[in-house]
Amino acid sequence: MFHSYFLFVLLISALRNTAANPVRDLKTCREYTLPVDVTSINYIWGLPQLHTNYDAATFNSKLGRWDANVTLNPISGGAQVSASYQISGTFCAPVRGGNGIVLVATHGFGFDRSYWNPEIQPEKYSFVDHAISKGYSIFYYDRLGIGKSSSISGYVAQVSVQVAVLKQIVTQVKAGKLCATTKKVVLVGHSFGSVVSNVLLTSSPQLVDGVVLTGIGYDVPDTAVAFESWQPRLARLQNPRKWGSLDGGYMTWVDIWSNAMTFFKAPFYDTKVVEYAEANKQPFGLLEVVTLQITDRHSPNYTGPALIMSGEFDLVFCNGYCPPILNNKVKETFPVSKGLEVYSQPGSGHAINLSLNATGSFEVVTGFLKRHGL
Ligand SMILES: *[C@@H]1O[C@H](CO)[C@@H](O)[C@H](O)[C@H]1NC(C)=O
Ligand SMILES: *[C@@H]1O[C@H](CO)[C@@H](O)[C@H](O)[C@H]1NC(C)=O
Ligand SMILES: *[C@@H]1O[C@H](CO)[C@@H](O)[C@H](O)[C@H]1NC(C)=O
Ligand SMILES: *[C@@H]1O[C@H](CO)[C@@H](O)[C@H](O)[C@H]1NC(C)=O
Repeated sequence: MFHSYFLFVLLISALRNTAANPVRDLKTCREYTLPVDVTSINYIWGLPQLHTNYDAATFNSKLGRWDANVTLNPISGGAQVSASYQISGTFCAPVRGGNGIVLVATHGFGFDRSYWNPEIQPEKYSFVDHAISKGYSIFYYDRLGIGKSSSISGYVAQVSVQVAVLKQIVTQVKAGKLCATTKKVVLVGHSFGSVVSNVLLTSSPQLVDGVVLTGIGYDVPDTAVAFESWQPRLARLQNPRKWGSLDGGYMTWVDIWSNAMTFFKAPFYDTKVVEYAEANKQPFGLLEVVTLQITDRHSPNYTGPALIMSGEFDLVFCNGYCPPILNNKVKETFPVSKGLEVYSQPGSGHAINLSLNATGSFEVVTGFLKRHGL
C-alpha cells in the first residue's frame, strides 16, 4: 500500500515536472570551477577611492557631465598584470542529439550567471533551456568578481581582465575540458558581457566560430544617460549583509524603480520579474564602467558571423530607442565578418531575456546560428 502510494506520488511529480518544463529533463548540467592564469594590460584607477554615498553622488555628477571625456580623468596609467583566479560556471548539454557546438555566455552588469537561466518561469525566460532544446551545449559563468568566482577590487576589474579570463575559458572549452566532443565555440553576451565578447574578437579573431552580442550598440548617443538613470550607490552600504566585504569600487543602482527604468520597458514586462531581478542583482565595478566606454571594439580581422541584437527600447545603448541607430558603425566595427546581422527586438528594453517576449528573442538567436551553419 505504502509502496504504490509512493510510486503514485513519484509519478505525479514526474508528470508535473514534465508539464512545467520538459527541457529540464533533457539536459545534464555540471558545476565547474575553472582555474585561469591571466595576463592583461590594465588601466590604473587614478581618482580617490569612494567611501560614502556623498562620494558616489560626486562621482556620478562628474561622470554625467557632457565634457567628462576631458574633465574626469579616472585613469592614471597602465601596467601589464598577471594573476590567477577561479571562475565558477555551469555547463549544460542536451542528453541526446547535441550538435557539438558550445555557447560560452557572459552576463552583463547587475547580474550573475543566472541571467541565462533564471529560476522564475524558466519556460519563459531561460535562454539555457531554449539553447538546449535546439541542440546546443552552453557554459555560463559568473564573471570575475561576481557570485562564486574569485573576488577582485572594483578599482581593478575592467574590460581587459574580463577579456583575458574569457580567452582562458574558451581555450579550455576548445581543448575539450568540459566536453570531449566539442566541435565549435560561439560567444554569447549581454551588455557588458557583449562588450567583453566583442573585444576578444579584436585580439583573437580566429578563436571562435561565431558571436551573438545582445544588449549592445555602437553609436551610443550619450552613455551618461544610463548611468544617471541608475543613480549608483556604494554596494557595500546599500546591502552590507550581501556586499559588506566589497570595496568602494563596487556600486549598484539605487532601487527597483531605477532597475525598471534602465532595464525594462512598460508595458512589456511582468512586475514579478522586476522584483526577481532586483532581489538577485549584483554590483558592478567602477573601472568596468569606465573601460566599457573607452575600449576599442573594432574587430578588423574577425571573419565569422556576428549578430548584433538589442531591445527596441534599450535605454543603455540606444538612449531609449534603437531602430534608427542600431545599424550605425556596425559594419566598420566588423568589416570582414561573413554573416553580419543587426536586429532590434520589438517590445523589449535592455533586459531582453526578461521581457514578456523573451522566447521570441531566443528564437532570433538560434535562427541566426542555424542560418550560418552553427
Ligand atoms: C569629448 O567629447 C566632446 C563631445 O562629445 C567631443 O566634441 C570632443 O571631441 C571629445 N574630446 C576628446 C578629447 O575626446
Ligand atoms: C535578464 O537580464 C537582465 C539584465 O541583465 C537581468 O536583470 C535579469 O536577471 C536577467 N534575467 C533573469 C530573470 O535572470
Ligand atoms: C589584423 O591583421 C593585420 C594583417 O595580418 C595585422 O597587421 C593587424 O595588426 C591585425 N589587427 C588587429 C587589430 O589585430
Ligand atoms: C516576439 O519576438 C519575435 C522575434 O523578434 C517577433 O517576431 C514577434 O513579433 C514578437 N512578438 C511580439 C508580440 O512582439
